[in-house]
This record gives sequence, C-alpha cells and structure tokens, in this order.
Amino acid sequence: MAKGKKQARSKAKKALRSKGLRRSSSKTKTSSKSRSAAFLRSEISGIKVAILGIGNVASCFVQSIYAKELKGMWHEKIGNYRRNDIKIVGAFDIDKRKVGRDLADAIFSEPNVSPKFSAVPKTGIIVQAGIVNHEVPRHLTSQTIDASDFRDQLKVTGANIVLNLIPSGMADTSFDYAEAALKAGCSFINATPESIASDSSLSAKFEASKLVLVGDDLLSQFGGTAFHKGILDFMNSRGLRIEKSYQLDVGGGSETLNTISEPIKLEKRDIKTESISEELPYKFETVAGTTDYVDYMGNNRTSYFWIQAKSFFDSDVKIDVYLRTNDAANAGNVLIDVIRAVARARQKGRFGSPKEICDYGFKKLRKPALLRKAHEEFLSQYS
Ligand SMILES: NC(=O)c1ccc[n+]([C@@H]2O[C@H](COP(=O)([O-])OP(=O)(O)OC[C@H]3O[C@@H](n4cnc5c(N)ncnc54)[C@H](O)[C@@H]3O)[C@@H](O)[C@H]2O)c1
Repeated sequence: MAKGKKQARSKAKKALRSKGLRRSSSKTKTSSKSRSAAFLRSEISGIKVAILGIGNVASCFVQSIYAKELKGMWHEKIGNYRRNDIKIVGAFDIDKRKVGRDLADAIFSEPNVSPKFSAVPKTGIIVQAGIVNHEVPRHLTSQTIDASDFRDQLKVTGANIVLNLIPSGMADTSFDYAEAALKAGCSFINATPESIASDSSLSAKFEASKLVLVGDDLLSQFGGTAFHKGILDFMNSRGLRIEKSYQLDVGGGSETLNTISEPIKLEKRDIKTESISEELPYKFETVAGTTDYVDYMGNNRTSYFWIQAKSFFDSDVKIDVYLRTNDAANAGNVLIDVIRAVARARQKGRFGSPKEICDYGFKKLRKPALLRKAHEEFLSQYS
C-alpha cells in the first residue's frame, strides 16, 4: 500500500517535471487552501511561453526576450516580474519555411519582414507544426498536425502560457488552440481579432481550471487605435464637441495583405471603429480600418486621421494628421506586459479573463474601456 502511494507520488512528480512544473518543497503542515496556493505559486514561478505563429510580431517579441539590452521598455516591472523572467519554451507554425527550423532562424524566414532589431543566438527551440481548422493563406505551403498531437507537444514544452499570434480570420483554429491550451493546463493570450476571451463560456472554462484567458485583438502601444482614442479624449477634455472622424491605414507585411481581404477587413474595421466610438461619452460619426496593402512598406504602417469638431460659437476645429509606426515593434511592450500580468493574475487567484488586463492590452472587449483609465487600472494592480 505504502509502496503504491510512493510510486504514485513519484509518477506525479515525474509528470510535473515533464511539464516544467515543480511542487512546493515546504514540509510544514498546511491547510488544503494554502497548499493549493503554494502549489500555484511554485507552478508559475517561471513564465514559460509557447508561441503560436512565428510571424512578424513573434519575430520582434523573440528578439526582445533574447536582447541583452532593450531600449524603450515601457514598464520595467509588471507583477514583480522583469522582462528576463519570461522564457520562451515552444514555437508552432504551419509554414514549411519555418517548421523544423531553430526559432532564431525561423523569425527571419520569408515571408517575415520584421526588422532585425537584435541578434538572437541559436535557441535550441525547433519550430513545430501547428494545427489548422481553416483555409490556409494563399502565400504559404502548410505542414500540420492534429489537435491531440498538438496538445501532447505543448505539454512536452512545459509552457504555462500560450501566446496566439496566428493571422486574423482563422476563428476556428484559434478556438481549437485555446481549447488545447486549456486541456494542457496553460493560460492563453489571444492577440488575434477572433472572439476567444470575449467568449464567456470559454472564459468560464479557463476560470474553472484556475487558468487565465485574455484577449482579443492586441491594442498596440502607439498604433492607430490608441493614438485616435488619445486625441479624441484630449479634444473632449478641452471642451470640444467631436462631430466626425476617420482613420485610414496603409501597411505592408502578410497580416496587412490578409486583412484587406473581405470579410476580415470588415471584421477588423468593426473592432477598431467600435473601440474608437467608445472613447467619447456621446455618439459621433466615425470609421477606422486598414485600407490597403503596399508590399514595399515592409512591416511599417501609415495611419491617416481626420477629425472635425466644434468649439466656441460653433467655430470649426479640424485635424489632419498622419502617424508612421512599425507594426511588430508596436506590439512588443504590450505583449511583454500582458504576459507578466497573466502570470501574476494566476498567482493572485485572478482566474478567467481579468478585466484590467483585457482593457489594457486589447481592442475587442466584452464591455467598453477608456484608454487612460484602463492603463491606470492596470498599473494600480500590476506595477
Ligand atoms: N501590432 C501588431 O502587429 C498587431 C496588433 C494587433 C493584433 N495583431 C495580431 O497579431 C497576429 C500576428 O500578427 P503578425 O503581423 O505577426 O502576422 P504574420 O502574418 O506576420 O504572422 C502570422 C504567422 O502565423 C503563422 N500561421 C498561420 N496559420 C497558422 C496556424 N494555424 N498555426 C500556427 N501558425 C500559423 C504564419 O505562417 C505566420 O508565420 C495577427 O492576428 C494580428 O491581427 C498584431
């Protein structure tokens, strides 16, 4: 009997080790509640991330994790974690040009156009084939596995957080990935515009499993949406009445090419337009979205803004302005912050989809959020 128990314990320990997890070594007698809290603390003492989709955003993210020095960090510490507490332990893609390659090489493989910001040494992480439950984009030849094999591979990586960076428009695939992560005991971050964290029943399943699910559609640090919301908030705070506004976006990179095809274009346009509309306490006419793809722009984006407002005596105030940014770099700070916050949320017992993380890092939300307030709330809980 005692021998059986011992064997079962050593089997459980082995399983935990294979997941990269370890139980607390405390020998003191503790209540089952504090034991499970201690287990959770030790389980996520390291942030181990598996990336889905080794495209432009992943390229910049991987470079930022391996960079010896990183200029432009927004928040040095989030949830008591620093950037170098994040470890990448797994990588999945379906493009034959990336599968089977070391992550250090895959991030610079075609069709990625994200700049080389920083040298990345060989990582020893080989990009593995992912799953597909959607039409494969025209620009790539795919190599895939089925969902249960993916789940097993994911477990072997020891990841505790899965970062979804696959292209937009693959709703079923993103959903399958989220379910596989859930079954493998990983929290899930959905940067794509698909309804994953906004799906309340899926979020409830993550909560029941003491995991975190956040998304949807990453809000870039200083992209078109944040900039647009910021100007509108400022104009409103100065007593102007906004009447009409639009934002037109032109960019390169495969995600932009993907985004200009209907119906993805309309879906993205709805998300951006709604997020911008929500910034003001009254209704006004606005449209925002990706307008075109220009291949030689690489991973850069130009966003044009036009705003018409009324001031004293109904006098006109008009703004014409454009913003030029790099897409992947614009995602970097927010991703690093969200990953650290997700790890901290799980430690604190904030399971499911913590509103303060979703509001800070994403555009598509279950309930509207104001840009400035969301940032303040996020910092008050995680800095
Ligand atoms: N600042 C930003 O760039 C930003 C902002 C908001 C949202 N996002 C979202 O982030 C995601 C990634 O953007 P990106 O510019 O890196 O895209 P990308 O097209 O450069 O990269 C996508 C990668 O996913 C891979 N892929 C395709 N299907 C896959 C599958 N089934 N499994 C695994 N991998 C698969 C592709 O081969 C490619 O390597 C998109 O959904 C985008 O909407 C990005």
